[in-house]
This record gives sequence, C-alpha cells and structure tokens, in this order.
Amino acid sequence: MSADKRIAIYGGSFDPPHLGHRKLVSFLLENFQNLEKILIVPNKLSVFKREKYFSPQECFELCELNFSDLDPDRIIVSDIEVTKDSPNYSYETILEIKKIYTNYSIDLVVGEDQLLDLPHWKEFETILQEISRFIVFRRNTVPKETIPIPSSLIGFPLHICENSLWEESATQWRNWQTAEILHPPVAEKMKENSRIKFNEKVLETWKEFAKKENTKSRFDHVEKVSILSQELALSNSYLFPEKAELAGILHDITKQKTKEIHIELFDKYGFTNYYDLPFAAWHAYSGKYKIIDEGIDDIDIQKAVESHTLGRKNMSLLESILYSSDFLGSDYAQAHPDYSEWIRLTHTNLTFGKYIKSKNTIQNLLEKKQMIHSNTLDVYNESAQFLSKE
Ligand SMILES: [Fe+2]
Ligand SMILES: [Fe+2]
Repeated sequence: MSADKRIAIYGGSFDPPHLGHRKLVSFLLENFQNLEKILIVPNKLSVFKREKYFSPQECFELCELNFSDLDPDRIIVSDIEVTKDSPNYSYETILEIKKIYTNYSIDLVVGEDQLLDLPHWKEFETILQEISRFIVFRRNTVPKETIPIPSSLIGFPLHICENSLWEESATQWRNWQTAEILHPPVAEKMKENSRIKFNEKVLETWKEFAKKENTKSRFDHVEKVSILSQELALSNSYLFPEKAELAGILHDITKQKTKEIHIELFDKYGFTNYYDLPFAAWHAYSGKYKIIDEGIDDIDIQKAVESHTLGRKNMSLLESILYSSDFLGSDYAQAHPDYSEWIRLTHTNLTFGKYIKSKNTIQNLLEKKQMIHSNTLDVYNESAQFLSKE
C-alpha cells in the first residue's frame, strides 16, 4: 500500500448513537493521530439484524450531532449507506469509499465481539484486499487481556485498542428512554422529533377517537390515565412525555368491545394464544392490534398498550408508566384512603406503582377465587424484591 494518508471506517447501527460510541471516537482521535479522517457510517438496516428503531435518516442526523463536534476537521458522518434503496454489505461500502478516497489507506474499526464473525462476512477476501488493517476496540475484555483472534486473521494487521469498557448500550437506551446515556444535543433532537410527530393536534385527534370508542365513564378513566402517564413520564425523565400521554389515551381503546371484535383482531394479526389469557386482559392485546390498524406505528406505545393489564417481567419505562397509571387512574384506587400516598410513592419510585398494582390485582383475584396470570406474579415478585433491597 503506497498511500500515505489514513482513513478509518467506523460503521454500525447507531440506533441510537450514545455516549459509548462518542467515547470510542474520542479514543480513536486521541490515540490514532495518523488517522486523517474517521468516517462514521450508520447503516440502513444491519444485514444480520432486525429493522432499526430509528429510521436510517434519523440515525444519520443523530450521528452528526453525536460526533461532529469532537473534531470537525477529522470526523465525517457519511450517508453512503442510509441513502441506498436497500441495505448493503460492508465490502460494497468499502469499495465505494475507496473510489472517493483514492490515495488513502483504509482502516476498518470493529468491536471485539465482531472479530470472530469477520471471516464470515460477505466477500471477506475482498475486504482483506482493500483495507490495510483492522482497528479492534474492546467491548467485553478489559485492557491488557488477550482477545481471541480467528485463525484466518493471524498475520493480518490488527490493532487491538486498550480502550476502557463502557456501560452504555443502545439496547439499554431503547428500554429506558431517558437522556442519561446520550450526548445532550442528541437527546434534544430526539425530543424535538417526538414533539413534532405527536404534537397537540395529533393528540387531540386521538382523544376524539378514544371518546367515540368509549362510554363517558370509561373515557373519564382514559383521560385520568393519560394525565397520570404524562406526569409520571416527567417525574421519571422519560424523554417523550407526549408518547406517554398518547399511550394513556389509547390504552383501553377496545375495552368495551365484544368478544367477537377481539377475536376478529386476533385473527387478522395471527395471534392465536388468546385463550390462555384471562378475558379481562384480552382488550390489552386486541387494543394493540386496533391501534396498529389505525396507523400507530410507534412500537413503544404498542408494547405499553399490550402489557398495561397483565404487565410482564422487565417492562420498559413507558410500559411501567402506563401499567402504574392505569391502576392509579382506576375508581378503586382513587377511592382508597391511601391514594395520595400511593401517588406520592409512585412519583418517587415507579417500582412502587408496579408493586401496588400487582399486589392489589392478586388480592382481588384471590378473593374472587380466580386464577392469577404468571405475568402478574412476575411483576409482583420483581417489584417486591426490588423494594425490599432499598
Ligand atoms: Fe385496560
Ligand atoms: Fe384502563
């Protein structure tokens, strides 16, 4: 390789880009002074993975906010993959970049967890021909410890980084959508996008829809749950309070529908396990399908509606908010002498909301000699265990 300038390609889902990614890029800038450019390439859809949480274009914009200020002269956030009609393979991106940066040596930045898989990448031989080395960063193995290298890479230039490990992960963010592991401008942009998508007019339209689908007293409960959800979203620093409000508006959308309508929705969406569920929870599942039918494409809202009655293990922040608000917005809870204390404790610690709802549900079912669904027991055990440790 005669080229004397180096460029590193750091590709990935960045769904969303977070402080962990930022720490790695800062590390590369500082420790690889001979890298003239670092090209950050968010992908369209991972070849091996599922569809993205954020749209490819959104990931690209968030990446610009996450990285560009680190060193504007050396960082380039590339839309080379996100603008493609279909997802492409790494070797295709490398060949394309090679055409643009003709007199550069190309380094490829990969995580240690990708290393063993690398020889199975499509056109791996082409990749080896086109790049001059792999820069391998640590994800699980602490600095100085040996990272296993696949035999087909022995002898090929690899630079194993001595970066410290970071805690942040995109999966963690998707479950608990707060600003905590995000670069502030990234969090601000996400909030803004959500506020535009779920603006007041949109919320008002869904409210009118919910009003038509429910009786007056059911709609009063829906409104109460929606307000409580929004308040709990704010006290838990949930980034998208308007999504919590909308989940509240929609959560009981099929509550007053007939058995036949529930089954119609289950059949339409191929859901066959409904006979294992208590009838009181059918509306949570059919409610999810109903809102999908009506055009709600937000998977967080869909999931929250689905789990608002039975709950489940490891609920996301939005699911926990709606699950708790549904109870606190019930006539039973509001008439209880401890109501204001329950509200106070739930605002202080959302786990209390999950605990008090699951406990009351279990007590109520025991009194009526009815079966208790395992999801409800899971929520009770999980929350009681958590609270006992405090
Ligand atoms: Fe409900
Ligand atoms: Fe409800």
